[in-house]
Amino acid sequence: MGRIAFLNGRFLPWEEALIHAEDRANNFGDGIYEVVVTYHGKPFYAERHIDRLFYSASQIELEIPYSKEEIMDIITTAIEKSGLDNAMVYFQVSRGFSEREHAFPENAEPTFYLTVKPFQPMPMEERKRGVKVISYPDIRWSRCDIKSLNLLPNVMAREYAKRKGALEAIFVKDGVKFTEGSSSNFFAFIDGKLWTHPLTNEILAGITRSIVLEIAKELGIEIVEKPILTTMMDKIEEAFITSTTKEIIPVSYIDDTKIPVGERTLSLVKAYQRLKEEGH
Ligand code: PDD
Repeated sequence: MGRIAFLNGRFLPWEEALIHAEDRANNFGDGIYEVVVTYHGKPFYAERHIDRLFYSASQIELEIPYSKEEIMDIITTAIEKSGLDNAMVYFQVSRGFSEREHAFPENAEPTFYLTVKPFQPMPMEERKRGVKVISYPDIRWSRCDIKSLNLLPNVMAREYAKRKGALEAIFVKDGVKFTEGSSSNFFAFIDGKLWTHPLTNEILAGITRSIVLEIAKELGIEIVEKPILTTMMDKIEEAFITSTTKEIIPVSYIDDTKIPVGERTLSLVKAYQRLKEEGH
């Protein structure tokens, strides 16, 4: 019960999930990952995460050592073994270990590992108050659609946010537009419509983003998939961030600009809450 791991074909205690020092994840960040959460012991939208893992893999010519069905089975078994109701499941695939050389190794086996640990979503009272986010230059590479292990800019941005008393950093590309958060997607209501960056190489195609857009459509909210420009700051009526672990968190400050936590965002939060209860 509790934290457990799966590494190269077997389940084992979390403390024993050890990877070779010359794994390419370690030397180059040469790999990809996913994060899935569970509610009431059931994984939430796991198929979409597994599909995205295969998309990321295809983009870096990495072969995943399991089929989609096998990964789903590993996730389900790991959750059962953990005995956790609300869990965070992390899984990553790297190009394996071999002597350090930038080009792909000839004979390395990919390393697949997965861990399960307890997950506690942000309590509703705290969520409703909203959080501060801070802008940070988008210094990342031009393939942010790949969920790559290379997260140094994201780490730098998040540390900056933490030091400024903010929960999240929102990347600003070329000083002109908000792309996404360091580990979340970014949305804003502008002129009554819900704006978010379009799916391009400049952002990750968030699974929570896709769910929120579906909910918004059902609620009759008009969606604009266009970049939110920094010059639109004073037009932002409400804003929020989304991710698998954050779910939907209203934004109450962007830098020093106060943003009200409004009814439209809270209606999305409520609808998301219903999906969690139903299970998906
Ligand atoms: N991060 N954008 C980035 C850069 C992310 O790292 C994430 C997720 C998202 C939101 O994607 P999703 O809704 O599929 O979780 C957007 C995960 C949770 C992480 O790194 O822990």
